[in-house]
Amino acid sequence: MARLPVTIRDMHLGDVEAVAEIEAEAFADAWPPSAFLDLLSHGYARLRVACEGSGEIAGYCVLLRAADEGEIANICTTLARRGCGVGAQLLDDALHLADTADVAAVYLEVRTSNGPARDLYGSRGFELVGRRRQYYQHPTEDALVLRRVRPVRSPA
Ligand SMILES: CC(C)(COP(=O)(O)OP(=O)(O)OC[C@H]1O[C@@H](n2cnc3c(N)ncnc32)[C@H](O)[C@@H]1OP(=O)(O)O)[C@@H](O)C(=O)NCCC(=O)NCCS
Repeated sequence: MARLPVTIRDMHLGDVEAVAEIEAEAFADAWPPSAFLDLLSHGYARLRVACEGSGEIAGYCVLLRAADEGEIANICTTLARRGCGVGAQLLDDALHLADTADVAAVYLEVRTSNGPARDLYGSRGFELVGRRRQYYQHPTEDALVLRRVRPVRSPA
């Protein structure tokens, strides 16, 4: 499928309703709108949305930071836009933000059965570093813990 060009920007309060709808469509254990609202008020989180030319939100990503470590806490695209490169653009944006903020390593958890997400993370340099038994509910499943270390900068 052709890559859908999107503009990626910070999430605003007014985006939360649309984002929570996409979230509910994607996850059995979806974050409630209050989870996004809470994170928007905290300085340690970057919440980003991918917008189509019409302004419609095609996906979002939540990057958390603690000291020199980051975590992709959430990444999701609308069902209608899966496989159009939106997830990849959101992840590249989050990793760029992490790299420029001197985050040494970015972690995330993913369901063992989530092939599309695992392929995406693998293509961006994430490697398996652990497993959390029965971490997910609905259905119960292990989480794989992946880590992507910041690439070494070449000397100027
Ligand atoms: C995971 C997710 C964010 C990927 O977003 P996306 O926009 O569909 O992915 P992209 O189109 O950017 O694809 C990027 C890469 O992911 C992989 N991928 C995407 N869809 C795939 C599929 N259906 N099967 C296998 N691999 C797939 C491919 O490696 C692809 O690389 P390519 O462009 O070279 O083919 C999206 O599928 C999604 O929202 N899933 C539901 C929520 C979720 O599972 N989030 C992750 C929780 S850890």
